Amino acid sequence: MPDTAIAELDVPGFGMSQAVALFGEDLHKVGAYNFKVGDLVGTLCRLYGFGWEEAERWGEAASLHDLGKLWIPRDVLLKRGSLDEDEWRIMRGHAVFGYARLRHFCRLAAEMALSHHENFDGTGYPHALAGEEVPLSGRMVRLCDVYDALRAARSYKMAITHEEAVEIILQGDERIRPEMFDPELLCLFALHHREFEAAFDR
Ligand SMILES: [Fe+2]
Repeated sequence: MPDTAIAELDVPGFGMSQAVALFGEDLHKVGAYNFKVGDLVGTLCRLYGFGWEEAERWGEAASLHDLGKLWIPRDVLLKRGSLDEDEWRIMRGHAVFGYARLRHFCRLAAEMALSHHENFDGTGYPHALAGEEVPLSGRMVRLCDVYDALRAARSYKMAITHEEAVEIILQGDERIRPEMFDPELLCLFALHHREFEAAFDR
């Protein structure tokens, strides 16, 4: 889990412009910066009861959850078609790579980078944490990242509609199970899914 002695070195207001200055414009090219996931997490934070300022801070940090993709070889990261087992092992490293860089600047963004592929039912990575062992920030990014990935067109898949994405998240499909998500956050998503649609379409 995060090395808090180092991770508490927070730079006030750390966000995209500082990340671009530190890590370069490639952030945008490889999907290492995702403002839509940031907006979705900001929306979820407000629904959860956060004030506007705190929700905005969490949203900004969430935009950087995939920063570690910068250190994944491009032939794996941008490969068309499915990855083999070795390539998946390399790809899964992005959670730890992002954490290792961000922890020197923003404790919250580092926590999100490390935990955004953990699942509530313990089937995620890198640490197979379960339930509230997964930080709230990681549980929020997990749900919003899956919604964004379903809605977005990628080199290997078509975009789907909001209604189809809601159906998959709440009912599951061959890859996604509702048990992967924090049930309280899933309930907020089910009740307020139109706000997620509006955030994605902004
Ligand atoms: Fe990721």
